[in-house]
Amino acid sequence: MQVVSGQARPLRTVSEVSDEREQPNLYPDSGGAAAISMRGVHKRFGGITAVDGLDLHVPSGVCFGLLGPNGAGKSTTMRMLTAQTLADEGQIAVLGYRLPGESKQARLEMGVVPQLDNLDVELTCRQILTVFARLYRVPRSERSMAVERALGIANLEPRADTIVRELSGGMRRRLLVARGLIHSPRLVLLDEPTVGLDPQVRQELWSLIDGLRASGVTVLMSTHYIEEAERLADTVAVMNQGKIIAQGPPGELVSAHAGEQVLEVYGAPEKLAAVSQLASEGGWQSRRSGPAIAILRAETLDGSAPDGVLRPANLEDAFVALTGEDIE
Ligand SMILES: Nc1ncnc2c1ncn2[C@@H]1O[C@H](COP(=O)(O)OP(=O)(O)OP(=O)(O)O)[C@@H](O)[C@H]1O
Ligand SMILES: [Mg+2]
Repeated sequence: MQVVSGQARPLRTVSEVSDEREQPNLYPDSGGAAAISMRGVHKRFGGITAVDGLDLHVPSGVCFGLLGPNGAGKSTTMRMLTAQTLADEGQIAVLGYRLPGESKQARLEMGVVPQLDNLDVELTCRQILTVFARLYRVPRSERSMAVERALGIANLEPRADTIVRELSGGMRRRLLVARGLIHSPRLVLLDEPTVGLDPQVRQELWSLIDGLRASGVTVLMSTHYIEEAERLADTVAVMNQGKIIAQGPPGELVSAHAGEQVLEVYGAPEKLAAVSQLASEGGWQSRRSGPAIAILRAETLDGSAPDGVLRPANLEDAFVALTGEDIE
């Protein structure tokens, strides 16, 4: 898969984009033009509060990762940004457009890759991309070039004339991404972009996402995959029960919430139970990690620490410390 090149319309730089429109910034203290601003946003479905007073600010030109367990409200947040779901309360602005009133304009300048595959199974890849090029108002003279470029991005040229029903799951996912990029958007929303993909295709999509960011496109990506957030996102927001509970560059989140070192202690169940007990008596933060007990902030332990294997703390440790949940 190739990283975006030979755009039908060149991607604009961040400064060109910000000069172009006056961006209402719902966060006047945060500096810089916001690609996305959400303030005090609530969304309820009957008795379920899916999004609970969400404040989210995504500056232009960054890759922003929304990381959270199942049901945290990530997809609902994404759907509110496209006005597929309307917020019950709060303010939302996307690319300088106020939602929901100006959602049509916002949609034309953003690319959306949904979590659930909603492709028409009877159409070929080329037909789908052509329909979307027209829907997204790519000028007629540029449409076929845009379609070829999108097929190239998704590495689907050999399958251009295959109907969706006959594609593999990974190919369908790649087609969804290509479809979202057909009009060279300046903001892309990716909801769980690599779910169910094999490691090689996942890596290809990662380099594609990285390439988008490098060319000035703002990316908002939700994910379950800690490694995906850690590798790609400039800023990660950890979402739980409809709220952002921590936010920052991955490295800062790790040191703030999991420290520098983790001590992993292995052994029979009785030994692990004893280590857990020791940890709780010592006031050490610990968790079950596969066949081991992981003790966070091992650099602060004194001589009473049990024998084990030291490793650097990672975003998964921070995530579990924050949410109390293992993901994947
Ligand atoms: N259309 C709907 N009707 C009723 N409840 C809904 C609807 N959409 C979402 N919910 C509920 O809102 C909550 C948040 O769901 P959402 O899909 O936003 O979570 P998520 O973080 O994307 O989870 P996942 O990681 O599983 O994709 C869940 O409790 C879900 O059941
Ligand atoms: Mg989801």
